[in-house]
Amino acid sequence: MKFKSFAVMSSVFVSSLAMGAAFAAGPSQAAQLAAAKPGAQSSHKSSGNWMRDQVVLRQMQMMIRHTGRPMTAAEIDRALNTRIVGGTTATASDNPFQVALLNKSVASNYDAQFCGGTLVKANVVVTAAHCVYGTSASQLQVLTGTRSLASGGTRRNVSSIAIHSSYNNNTLDYDVAVLTLSSSATGIPLASLASADPAAGTNLLVTGWGNTSATGSSYPTALRKATVPLIATSTCNGSSVYNGAITARMICAGYLAGGVDSCQGDSGGPLTRSSTLTGIVSWGQGCAQRNKPGVYTRVSNSSVNSFIRARAGL
Ligand code: ARG
Repeated sequence: MKFKSFAVMSSVFVSSLAMGAAFAAGPSQAAQLAAAKPGAQSSHKSSGNWMRDQVVLRQMQMMIRHTGRPMTAAEIDRALNTRIVGGTTATASDNPFQVALLNKSVASNYDAQFCGGTLVKANVVVTAAHCVYGTSASQLQVLTGTRSLASGGTRRNVSSIAIHSSYNNNTLDYDVAVLTLSSSATGIPLASLASADPAAGTNLLVTGWGNTSATGSSYPTALRKATVPLIATSTCNGSSVYNGAITARMICAGYLAGGVDSCQGDSGGPLTRSSTLTGIVSWGQGCAQRNKPGVYTRVSNSSVNSFIRARAGL
């Protein structure tokens, strides 16, 4: 059984995140959450995987930025529980370069998974900075060569983590990181990097092992996919959408009507146009909600693009 959030999530604690209060990254987060005064309790349980909890915390922080006040427990539940509507099981040809980021100390792949990533070289993975911020390479593994978290694949150690030097942990600007693997994943197709963006309205493919349950406790073992059209930044920055929060390092994809989106657990994974990596799953207010499409790191941005190339030796 894989839980996605926390035993206790108080609005007091969440508002302290919004104010940028420092908290230690690591296993002590669960203890801090448990100690937080339960002014409003969420029904979410601890995942038992602190890396996943940390990614959820970053997501909550972005949601608070956009609601402009502490969220109630009901809002937190609703926001985190929204499912990827319109997703289906990915087939072998869908983003074959997708990998899973695992917490090395958790034995089962299913329980260990907390983010996605993209193989751009046999020993290089592109992911979101917020997935690995505060984590050391020795605590991580990357699962290559399987679409299933139930069986198959190879767990590979990570020799180094590079986070973009301009990454902003509050706004999620420059949300990109490059992992170098200790061993090469040969025989797996690689993604290339977008140097320009397709026109707004172009359909893109997003994949991941993120949450698919309307009630919050169902993560898939099989990789899922959804087709989402690119949204113009001018539209995405509109006052009823993200109101100026979309920087030149971000790109929006999805439907303003809601209904189809990536979600928690998909972060770091690929948004592609055939084998071209166009975006990296980064954030969103809830999932698949009206006027709140998915936000992705913009791979075509020159600073994002050259960072990846330099680190990967591409
Ligand atoms: N920060 C989330 C990650 O875990 C990804 C959120 C994507 N949200 C969205 N609405 N597309 O896992």
